[in-house]
Amino acid sequence: MERPRRLRTSPAMRALVSETRIHPRDLVLPLFVKEGATEPIAIASMPGVVQHSEESLAAAVREAAELGLGGVMLFGVPATRDAVGSGAVDPEGILNRAIRIAKDAAAGRTVVMADVCLDEFTDHGHCGVLDAAGEVDNDATNELYRTMAVTQAQAGVDVVAPSGMMDGQVAEIREALDEAGFTGVAILAYSAKYASAFFGPFREAVDSQLKGDRRTYQMDPANAREGLREADLDLLEGADMIMVKPAMSYLDVLRQVADRSSVPVAAYQVSGEYAMIEAAAANGWIDREAAIMESLIGIKRAGADVILTYFAAEISRRNSHDSVQ
Ligand code: PBG
Repeated sequence: MERPRRLRTSPAMRALVSETRIHPRDLVLPLFVKEGATEPIAIASMPGVVQHSEESLAAAVREAAELGLGGVMLFGVPATRDAVGSGAVDPEGILNRAIRIAKDAAAGRTVVMADVCLDEFTDHGHCGVLDAAGEVDNDATNELYRTMAVTQAQAGVDVVAPSGMMDGQVAEIREALDEAGFTGVAILAYSAKYASAFFGPFREAVDSQLKGDRRTYQMDPANAREGLREADLDLLEGADMIMVKPAMSYLDVLRQVADRSSVPVAAYQVSGEYAMIEAAAANGWIDREAAIMESLIGIKRAGADVILTYFAAEISRRNSHDSVQ
């Protein structure tokens, strides 16, 4: 008789034959930085996650580096907003300040990435600028993304991560970076990014001003083939890494993207995925630590080389990637 159970007899045996492992270097920790904050501010819908002050950001990046995390992904929360998101292209804007602080704190020990998108900086909350009819203007937005990416590169960012789902954004940003002499700055493209209810808590995290939704630029959750097309386009446009987002509801898309990608593939375990685990665990309904590991293992098994997760520091701190259970 075939007896597969032989390989499940002990914790050590199971660890030996485990096909999928999470290593801290696979993980990227998203970090929020709030302009003018003098101490970290709690985010109610994301227990344990904060809007950092500049000081606490430096400490968080130092810890990420010491834990051996793959990288950090920075998001800025400005004090003031306007129709064109001016804070995003201001060298003294909160995100560009954060990049300089993070680069200094990282000291080359972990990769510093930043969001290239206008939603945190616009007073209407959309990821781009609006035309006369109130629609998100694709090409005018790309012009701003070009400047935003170059400004981030001047601040020292290692990787820019365009998340606005404008057509052609990767090619535009690549050209702008190259023209400005930043040929070494990489692009992590949010390629298949879906208009997801699971971004809910993120809106609180960045004090989002959005009314309505992002369905004219982010993708329809029903479409997998279209996700592959978006990934293919970003590869053609010169993306150095591509991403599927959210993760858990899109593992099929992730698997298919990973199977055809010639570059590393990332997946983002988003705010709502984090919040669901925290909320259920707080009620005593699931085993928190086991659920965290299972969720991350599932994402890795589906093909992610890199995982963006709010749990990154915690699981690296407790070394659960190496535990035998
Ligand atoms: C856009 C952006 C969003 C997230 C990452 N980048 C929000 C959105 O598209 O609505 C969501 C991340 C999360 O939910 O954890 N700048």
